[in-house]
Amino acid sequence: MVLGTGDGSGEGGTEAEEARKTAEGLGHLTGFGNQHSSEAVPGALPLGRNAPQRAPLGLYAEQLSGTAFTEPRAHNRRSWLYRIRPSAAHPRFLRTGNGGLRGAPFTETEPDPNRLRWNPLPDPPRGTDFVAGLWTLGGNGDAAQRTGMAVHLYAADTSMTDRVFGDSDGELLIVPERGGLLLHTEFGLLRAEPGHVALIPRGVRFRVVLLDGQARGYVCENYGQPFALPELGPIGANGLANPRDFLAPVAAYEDDADGRSVQVLNKFCGNLWAADYGHSPLDVVAWHGNHVPYVYDLRRFNVMGTVSYDHPDPSIFTVLTSPSDTPGLAGVDFVVFAPRWLVGEDTFRPPYFHRNVMSEYMGLIEGAYDAKAEGFVPGGGSLHNMMSAHGPDRETFERASSAELRPQKIDDGLAFMFETRWPVIPTAQALQAEHLQSGYDEVWQGLQRHFRP
Ligand SMILES: [Fe+2]
Repeated sequence: MVLGTGDGSGEGGTEAEEARKTAEGLGHLTGFGNQHSSEAVPGALPLGRNAPQRAPLGLYAEQLSGTAFTEPRAHNRRSWLYRIRPSAAHPRFLRTGNGGLRGAPFTETEPDPNRLRWNPLPDPPRGTDFVAGLWTLGGNGDAAQRTGMAVHLYAADTSMTDRVFGDSDGELLIVPERGGLLLHTEFGLLRAEPGHVALIPRGVRFRVVLLDGQARGYVCENYGQPFALPELGPIGANGLANPRDFLAPVAAYEDDADGRSVQVLNKFCGNLWAADYGHSPLDVVAWHGNHVPYVYDLRRFNVMGTVSYDHPDPSIFTVLTSPSDTPGLAGVDFVVFAPRWLVGEDTFRPPYFHRNVMSEYMGLIEGAYDAKAEGFVPGGGSLHNMMSAHGPDRETFERASSAELRPQKIDDGLAFMFETRWPVIPTAQALQAEHLQSGYDEVWQGLQRHFRP
């Protein structure tokens, strides 16, 4: 597929309609972590070698290494790209404004043990695209050390047309909450609707076209090891997120014979840098490898839970995990609270009261969450840092403690969690934001004394 370059950019709806038609007609490659290959033009992909003396069709061969050359096969990520012009053909990158984007290490505020909760981001100023609409809530680790993660939110009303974004610091797990996205990546196009997640690997360039005129959501920027599927242990060979439900793009490229100027934004050690290319860098005609973007529909998640008693720990809901050097200890887990049946006998069924060495950022994609009766709304989020006490609010506790324990379907919400081994240090803008809720502690006030010695 050869792509136009102006699709979805707004006025009149025609381009947005075109973008949606494109999004709904996309083909995919299936499977998590596969060694995929794809060519937009027959014969563009070399056979039997990666770097022939002359690559087919006059293309340039370029390797993109997502892990060190020498990492074990099970972790190794790299792709070979066959492109119209090499990525190296660019002028000097210059510093540009970071907007609401911040990077690790996070040192703007004193780490705060308090529980925090935010309402959704306010609507963005007109003309805000995905990158300009990124707003960092907080994070941990150090991008230069490739450890830790950041929590970003985004709100946008404009498609990216003449600029693309790539993140040297980490991979981006995009969680749309409002408005579908058409992601034009170096590897082809992906459609990410609310209820899906999209992953852009470290360094992969992309631009975001809005399918519904506005978009809002969350981003986990993972500085550490790439997200992988969790081990299943005694669960067996199937379940949780099944590998074949992950969709990678097929090759598609933009070909600018006219020398169109495209700004490439590069996030590097926390700051944005920009260079004007004389062509679209989304000019990859064929590729193969496993360092590839993908989308996943969270409603495909095969939810596991008790069929006897007690609430399993929420690690049973892990979709993706970024492992660390310590087995079982993730840099960050991505966890989904998807529709499911609750059948536990003699069991307090909502999430239990909890103090956790891990730090939890929670967001809500739609509906409601079964531990909070009110105040936790789609587009908003809560932060329960290391060892801070949290759990069901007063109203939820009273209701769940006296409810008749019939089988119950939780089917009106889609919540998620970024759970990380290090505290999430808020940015100054997050602590000063008007949409930071005051009085979050009050949801746990009035929990009655029931002790009868
Ligand atoms: Fe918790």
